[in-house]
Amino acid sequence: MVMTGEVVLETQGLAKRFGDLQAVQDLNLQIRQGDVYGFLGPNGAGKTTSIRMILGLISPSAGATRIFGHDIRRQFRQAIRQVGAMVEGPAFYPYLTGRQNLKIYGRLSGGVSDFRIQEVLEMVGLGHWGEAKVKGYSQGMRQRLGIAQALLHRPKLLILDEPTNGLDPQGMREIRGLIRRVSQQQQEGTTIFLSSHLLGEMEMVCNRIGVMHQGVTLVQGKVDELLGHAADMASIHVDQTDRAKTLLKEKFGIEPQLIKPGWLEFPLQDRDLFPVNRELVAAGLSVHSIAPRRRTLEEYFVNLTGESKDVR
Ligand SMILES: Nc1ncnc2c1ncn2[C@@H]1O[C@H](COP(=O)(O)OP(=O)(O)OP(=O)(O)O)[C@@H](O)[C@H]1O
Ligand SMILES: [Mg+2]
Repeated sequence: MVMTGEVVLETQGLAKRFGDLQAVQDLNLQIRQGDVYGFLGPNGAGKTTSIRMILGLISPSAGATRIFGHDIRRQFRQAIRQVGAMVEGPAFYPYLTGRQNLKIYGRLSGGVSDFRIQEVLEMVGLGHWGEAKVKGYSQGMRQRLGIAQALLHRPKLLILDEPTNGLDPQGMREIRGLIRRVSQQQQEGTTIFLSSHLLGEMEMVCNRIGVMHQGVTLVQGKVDELLGHAADMASIHVDQTDRAKTLLKEKFGIEPQLIKPGWLEFPLQDRDLFPVNRELVAAGLSVHSIAPRRRTLEEYFVNLTGESKDVR
């Protein structure tokens, strides 16, 4: 059994240059056993290029990757043996069914039963679509089949490039559930490395993240440490937001923001919320709720780069 916290995937100074373009610079990742690691960055940041290098699909201009201690270039077979991966736009035989595609893929390395194929189809929500030809699949269904293929061999390290691409909100929720289940499956836990440009999505499933921007890693760490354990925002649901704003400014010097109709927010800064509540109620306002909350990853990132939503 693998010891908890053991380094499963490591890159050292990984870099890729395409002509004049430095697509990835000095990438130093450390993914530990049991991590669900979110590799975040806007379109063109270098996520897919990094993943291709990690998987040995393209060679780096500099640096190295080790998976389970094996160098991906010099010991490819040992390094890749326990890895399941899906990289941008998985390719299938369009005139074969989903099940046939998985069967062919499973045969390449052997040891995959029909039972397991049905199991992974069900895991990704394609249980009833195994007999349909892939050419008739929607983009979201192809994406799911790609994830099923990556899971086929019960990998100890699962690498997924934008797994929620092309999925609707319901589909995204299902994949989030799947990622959580897979990460807790197997006694020692499956380690998961996934890329995305959707911060909100990643915050819900990842324990660690790395943020990449124009090939450069801006920040890496545990989500809890980056965002802090404590709540640092206050959220108020009140009937008269304009009056509440005036009151908060007058009495406490707080300048809250209107987030949506009826909802105000402001940085908590260790403030006690009881007096704030009392003041609002005393002025005759109806306070539906008043509560501290933790910053979101999106808010953290906006602070970090001055950029807005979804790292775009
Ligand atoms: N084979 C290639 N030849 C030349 N340039 C490339 C090649 N592959 C990627 N690039 C460039 O490298 C940069 C990083 O691309 P990459 O696909 O890794 O980004 P990404 O983070 O995966 O983006 P997305 O969110 O759109 O998938 C981009 O500017 C892209 O145009
Ligand atoms: Mg990509």
